[in-house]
Amino acid sequence: MPATNPLWGELDSLLERRQAEGLVRDRKCWVPDSPRLIVSDDGCSLVHFGSNDYLCLGWSREHENSADSGASGDCNDGNCNVWRYGAGASPSISGHTPDHAALVSDLALLCSAEDAVLFPSGYSANVGAVSALAGESDVIFSDRLNHASLIDGCRLSKARVVVYPHGDLVELQKLIRTHRTQGKRGFVVTDSVFSMDGDLADLRRVVELCEQFDLTAIVDEAHATGVYGHQGGGLLQHLGILSDRVVKIGTMSKSMGAIGGFVAGPRVLIRWLVNFARPYIYSTSLPIPVVQFARRSIRLLREMESQRVQLRERSVQLRATLHDQGHRVGSGDSPIVSIYAPGVEAVVVWSKRLRERGLYVPAIRPPTVPIDSCLLRVSLNLSHTEEDLRMLLEACRF
Ligand SMILES: Cc1ncc(COP(=O)(O)O)c(C=O)c1O
Repeated sequence: MPATNPLWGELDSLLERRQAEGLVRDRKCWVPDSPRLIVSDDGCSLVHFGSNDYLCLGWSREHENSADSGASGDCNDGNCNVWRYGAGASPSISGHTPDHAALVSDLALLCSAEDAVLFPSGYSANVGAVSALAGESDVIFSDRLNHASLIDGCRLSKARVVVYPHGDLVELQKLIRTHRTQGKRGFVVTDSVFSMDGDLADLRRVVELCEQFDLTAIVDEAHATGVYGHQGGGLLQHLGILSDRVVKIGTMSKSMGAIGGFVAGPRVLIRWLVNFARPYIYSTSLPIPVVQFARRSIRLLREMESQRVQLRERSVQLRATLHDQGHRVGSGDSPIVSIYAPGVEAVVVWSKRLRERGLYVPAIRPPTVPIDSCLLRVSLNLSHTEEDLRMLLEACRF
């Protein structure tokens, strides 16, 4: 992939300057051996004065034996004598373990990226990445229906934020022409699958615009990971987009069934985030069983192409039938099928009526969506039966 995005060169020079001042942190792997001992990446066993697990409960056998612990009963420390849960510290102190490093590699591979970095949640990955990359003199173009975490990241960055009408890339181009010169760095920030409406961003066009106007796309693949791409890598993978204009963000809380966020992209980007993304620097690393669970999910989801296709085909059929029944529905083929209601009252009544028929479909109202876009949000998953969908369609004859 040709390196054409000048942002990476700029970040590299800034990191080099900082390195000369001795201020750059590079990720080091720590192997927690016991509450008392930790092994550094050069193999030295050290008495561990770098953990916040004051009562050592992150290592306790008590949890393992407790009926309500949620632990599987299998030990996860390799020697099979304790259950190790919390990482005990932020990644730059001692919370980056071989398990975390292995998950980072799995995610980078899944996203066809050089490297990746973990965050405590998808929310913090978005806030952390956007606010670490954009600053006061920069400009961010943000889709009107972006997830709250992207919006919060934009606000925190203090950059000039230009909101474009949802999915309207013609308008986006006009806004870029007007506002691009004002920014030192420029970004287009967008969900790939929109979390409430379930429709898809035109990522090919977004990336084209980024290339044309020297911008970087920050793409939140929260609802696309696992659902799109031949290996479940997301919508960017599905569309074959490999541009180095893209910063890819994801979460492990949706199709992976776990928790935690990540950013994947060029090595210099990840190094930058390790040094400047505050939710990464100042939060405790993900718990080790969560990391191991997420790794297993990645192994499984890579092989689930036929299920991905089936899920999306079902969503298309459901949209088509709802449309034939007279509903206005969201576009695309994601498992999030939105059924628009005429207003706040109607959507609440609709949701209540479905509940009375044994179906839970949440009503989405302001402030989550604009007042003119109240909707029932149907989330399909692989466990739904034909009968479940038939019941839903029958109950949706409002
Ligand atoms: C589009 C989008 N991005 C980010 C997030 C945040 O992810 P997490 O729940 O892992 O914090 C969500 C979750 O609701 C989402 O829908």
